[in-house]
Amino acid sequence: MPAALFTVTLMPENLQFQADRDKTILQSAERAQIYPLSSCRNGTCRTCISTLISGDIRYNTDWPGLSAEEKQAGLMLPCCAQPLSDLVMKLEA
Ligand code: FES
Repeated sequence: MPAALFTVTLMPENLQFQADRDKTILQSAERAQIYPLSSCRNGTCRTCISTLISGDIRYNTDWPGLSAEEKQAGLMLPCCAQPLSDLVMKLEA
């Protein structure tokens, strides 16, 4: 069965790439030759911090380095987040 692909749109550039449900958003961006800033790649350092404008994600770690308030405000870490739908997001770095 082929992997589920979702469309990720990066604002404000309106740049789009396909993201695999089974890979992190960072991995899918890099596969599309888009290179957001990253360092630890495991949800610790916050280098990749971004804003999720719309869509649903899940984390592949129980402890992504965001507070509940930051998550509520829409901040997300694409190095350890996987898409559950099409996404619109903004890279902060
Ligand atoms: S690269 Fe470190 S939290 Fe994403």
